[in-house]
Amino acid sequence: MKAILLAGGIGSRIWPLSQAVNKHLLPVFDKPMIYYPLTTLMLAGARDVVLISSKTHLFSFKTLLGDGSQWGLRIRYSVQEKPDGIPAAFSLVPADFLNEPVILMLGDNLLYGAGLGESLQERQNLDGALAFGYWVSNPSDYGVIDFNELGRPIKIREKPKDSKSNYAIPGLYFFDKSVYSKVGHLKPSLRGELEITDLLSAYMLESKLHIEILQRGTAWLDTGNARNLLSAGEFVRVIEERQGLKIGSPEEVALRLGMVDKEKFLANLHEMPSGEYRNYLEKLVF
Ligand code: DAU
Repeated sequence: MKAILLAGGIGSRIWPLSQAVNKHLLPVFDKPMIYYPLTTLMLAGARDVVLISSKTHLFSFKTLLGDGSQWGLRIRYSVQEKPDGIPAAFSLVPADFLNEPVILMLGDNLLYGAGLGESLQERQNLDGALAFGYWVSNPSDYGVIDFNELGRPIKIREKPKDSKSNYAIPGLYFFDKSVYSKVGHLKPSLRGELEITDLLSAYMLESKLHIEILQRGTAWLDTGNARNLLSAGEFVRVIEERQGLKIGSPEEVALRLGMVDKEKFLANLHEMPSGEYRNYLEKLVF
């Protein structure tokens, strides 16, 4: 399955943290932020990923993630010159992505919950698009879905000030191959960006938008501002220390899903300096 991992933008809400370091490389407790959405994509069945970011920061991503083969992935890179909207990503993918279904994940979103990986894997042969709904107290900070009395989505808006619905849309979306032609028909919004909510609305108008409500036992954390970034780090620390298991480790996910064998896993460990992260991974196989 192909996937786009979006890690561009200027990180204006966390400036100056994002001045010298790309936001998606900042720590969320013990790992770079990008590890969390990357591992969610792995769990969802993605094996061929294109990471999109600004030219300035691409080198750092390549240093961190390489070509992905160490985790049984293929990772390629593409430059977004300016942050002209989330759907703009679809025009930056390699040619072999076109005419295939694709998962899109925003690099500053963290999803965590029991059975999430399995439930995402069932979504691959989709006719239309799939997005999720998640009850939040502050819907006007996000894309929001309004439902009718039958539970069908009837309106999708980006950061509405007057929302009656509390269902925000997390940054994980599944699209069938018609996404590439639909993006071609989108027009920039008043703020001058192509909006993901307009793309989802295009599917909705064709009755091809599936919305799945994420259960309240699922954690969706957005790390877009300094307060949320700190909360996400605390969340990861509390769960990891309580369970003694890590969230968002690509090495561990690759091993557990059989994307690498034990030999390859150990060879990767030998490249790592000794320390808490390597010790943890060693314990998975010894
Ligand atoms: O977090 C979920 C929300 O993400 C959704 O509910 C909204 O519908 C969606 O528009 C988005 O809202 P944000 O206000 O959080 O978008 P932001 O501009 O912060 O960008 C989200 C991610 O996408 C972030 O990782 C940066 C990346 N991005 C964004 C734009 C506009 C790019 O890589 N390129 C871009 O052009």
